[in-house]
Amino acid sequence: KPIVLSGCQPSGQLTIGNYMGALKQWVSMQSEYDCLYMLVDLHAITVRQDPQALRNACLDGLALYIACGIDPTQSTIFMQSHVPEHAQLAWVLNCYTQMGELNRMTQFKDKSARNVTNINAGLFTYPTLMAADILLYQAQQVPVGDDQKQHLELSRDVANRFNNQYGDTFTIPEPYIPEFGARIMSLQDPAKKMSKSDDNVNNFIGLLEEPKKIAKKIKRAVTDSDEQARIYFDPKEKAGVSNLLTLLSGATGETIESLVPKYEDKMYGHLKADVADAVVALIEPIQTRFEALRNDRAELDRIMREGSEKASARAAQTLARVYEAVGFIPRP
Ligand code: TYM
Repeated sequence: KPIVLSGCQPSGQLTIGNYMGALKQWVSMQSEYDCLYMLVDLHAITVRQDPQALRNACLDGLALYIACGIDPTQSTIFMQSHVPEHAQLAWVLNCYTQMGELNRMTQFKDKSARNVTNINAGLFTYPTLMAADILLYQAQQVPVGDDQKQHLELSRDVANRFNNQYGDTFTIPEPYIPEFGARIMSLQDPAKKMSKSDDNVNNFIGLLEEPKKIAKKIKRAVTDSDEQARIYFDPKEKAGVSNLLTLLSGATGETIESLVPKYEDKMYGHLKADVADAVVALIEPIQTRFEALRNDRAELDRIMREGSEKASARAAQTLARVYEAVGFIPRP
């Protein structure tokens, strides 16, 4: 089976954007691919975290992965920090990545512009750690949202560079980006991406939020001031409406093309009510499963232990090849 790897940051709670752009694909890929899914706690500390909040976010994230449908008997689920090979390979890759390449990363530019008091070296080399995550497992497909495309491109460049110098060491990974849902937009400002770190809580939908609150946020979402108030799909001209249609399609499984005609002579209010119902219907059973799992620490520990053992055994093979390639003496 082809290998798939992906991860989410455990900072804050996951949003419907993370679900539509990533988790939904993770779930559906499980039967056809050999999947590894992690919580990237090493990446999370590139911004300041409260230690207890980080621990909770990691456990929440793990329970939420499973509640969303990631099956630990089918896929390997683990914490990034439990597999030391990630940090080890990241160091090596740092030495094969140019400052100029990292300087071009738009996410670094955004993040460092927003938080000028903590532009640390980890934030800068974040993409090489991500490359290590992927290349360690020889992943072929990496299901992510649109915003990770540039990081994937860098992973491919670094892998190619290393292979050219030392012979085939890494599989060159491909991004796996859904046609719809790869970029869920903010509810109040549909020109920007939905983000869990948004200051305005009305901009995002958390997967663990109270269903009533979720419905309210959707009903308040910005559509547009188009006088005709027509409902059609056009992410440029009708960003808010198109975002709602995307959410509806993602939550119901119906295609955008089949949904649009149903709203031909309906009003924005109808669409919003349907989106709210569909999103709540999607999220409620996830929350129920989450609650049960989150209270079962022994089970979460068991899953983490099993996942990290499996992941580490695989990662160690790639790391050994890399260490040999660059000329390190194997530990006698
Ligand atoms: P993160 O934690 O920011 O987001 C996790 C996943 O959710 C996707 N996503 C979205 N998709 C659609 N619409 C949105 N509004 C939206 N917001 C987020 C992201 O594209 C991502 O797929 N660097 C990564 C984590 C990472 C990783 C990896 C991913 C670390 N190592 C290796 C893949 C492979 C990140 O910060 O994702």
